Amino acid sequence: MAKQEDDFKRVISHAKEYGYVFQSSEIYDGLSAVYDYAQNGVELKKNIREYWWRAMVQLNDNIVGLDAAIFMHPTTWKASGHVDAFSDPLIDNKDSKKRYRADVLVEDYVAKIEGKIEKEVTKAAKRFGNTFDKQQFLATNQRVVEYQERATTILKRLGKSLENEDLADVKKLIEELEIACPMSGSKNWTDVKQFNLMFGTKLGASADTAIDLYLRPETAQGIFVNFLNVQKTSRMKIPFGVAQTGKAFRNEIVARQFIFRMREFEQMEMQFFIKPGTQKEWYEKWKENRMKWHLSLGLGEENYRFHDHEKLAHYADAATDIEFRFPFGFKELEGIHSRTDFDLSKHQEFSGKKLQYFDTDENKNYVPYVVETSIGLDRMFLAIFSNSLKEEELENGTTRTVLKIPAVLAPTKAAVFPLIKRDGLPELAHEIIDDLKWDFNVLYDQKDAVGRRYRRQDANGTPFCITVDHQSLEDKTVTIRHRDTMEQQRVAITDLKAIIFKEVDMKNWLIKM
Ligand code: GAP
Repeated sequence: MAKQEDDFKRVISHAKEYGYVFQSSEIYDGLSAVYDYAQNGVELKKNIREYWWRAMVQLNDNIVGLDAAIFMHPTTWKASGHVDAFSDPLIDNKDSKKRYRADVLVEDYVAKIEGKIEKEVTKAAKRFGNTFDKQQFLATNQRVVEYQERATTILKRLGKSLENEDLADVKKLIEELEIACPMSGSKNWTDVKQFNLMFGTKLGASADTAIDLYLRPETAQGIFVNFLNVQKTSRMKIPFGVAQTGKAFRNEIVARQFIFRMREFEQMEMQFFIKPGTQKEWYEKWKENRMKWHLSLGLGEENYRFHDHEKLAHYADAATDIEFRFPFGFKELEGIHSRTDFDLSKHQEFSGKKLQYFDTDENKNYVPYVVETSIGLDRMFLAIFSNSLKEEELENGTTRTVLKIPAVLAPTKAAVFPLIKRDGLPELAHEIIDDLKWDFNVLYDQKDAVGRRYRRQDANGTPFCITVDHQSLEDKTVTIRHRDTMEQQRVAITDLKAIIFKEVDMKNWLIKM
């Protein structure tokens, strides 16, 4: 646990030191669970968004984009169920006065059991070496089977109590498991209560005419209310999807873990409209498709897993999370939900406007069903950033800090160095930059010895360093150093663009999907 905490602290401080993420309004001591993206962070975020958008919109001729407003008519949220049901079950500790999400307390308890299972697996893998069969071990080891059964029973009970809104049973579960306040160790709990997560605001100048609004807690509703507009103007036939990225706001009570759980965050969502009855098939297809997208970035298959929901949201008939191994354990990165016709039907009912599709093959009207994929851009940022930060021991006994961000997403693709600050080397370095900058983000650095400049760019996540020396003036060649292997090659200046392009071109990454 202490190692996990140390690793996570290192991620947070590196993000600040290298201009990725700052605490919002830091000079005023910050605002809790609100963050700003700095010069490198904004580029990484933009590249992740672009990587998602291309995979969704550009590569699928039956998916189009949308950018709906953050403010929506207040009835939207009544219809969607958010006014009545978008809440978290909260519990206070009477001694420490700290407030927690009751379900998260139980889930953290289960995560500890899962940690024990992982420990048993690691121990056994060491003991049995090459002959180790993980699946067989999980299915037959008595202790592990008991742990698994215990974890499943607890989650099932939690799911059932939440679904039945039996908050008294959630409290009982916390007491039975003897869960203590992580701050004080006290087990003196209040009752569990629901707390709505939407931020309210007002539209209009005078107090008597102002309308109460909500800041959207998800981008999805902007897609639902535009369903017919998009379908008609794009002349899309079912099945088709609408994709959108944008800010969402939630008054998260337990806002911790850096940019994992924020009050203002960005979502990348896609609603796929389908014929009723085909939802199971599309749900499976989108699960597979989204996992392939994740794996194409090469962060390691072992760092992802599916986690099916025990407790379904008010709109879903099936739901799963793609979980990622964050520095604090496996947690939700993306949700895939079979939303039925809940949203369109509700908007139809509340607006009095038909939101139906005329299926020419079936010769009838119906309200389409929806399968949704929904990923938090900030969480994806954290997944990539934390997975990429490495401390490496080098052959000469020193260590280096390197941020191995997939080259396709790296904020700066190349740094160009003149070996020394005179003899025409800076001028040639600038010429190279002037040529490369039309295609890539590149930067110039002439400060310190070249070795230190390499280290700086390693820690910054820059995949290539290009060094201009005296030979460059004679034969128009330079050395290019690769961040991950530290290998150096002598290449013609005219070949640089092609070498970099091969590594950072989105096509070469997305094609792995
Ligand atoms: N439209 C469905 C929906 O919003 P969700 O599971 O509540 O579903 C989808 O959210 C994704 O949004 C999550 O998987 C997560 O990546 C991201 N997300 C949700 N709440 C967040 C928060 N407070 N901070 C950062 N990301 C969040």
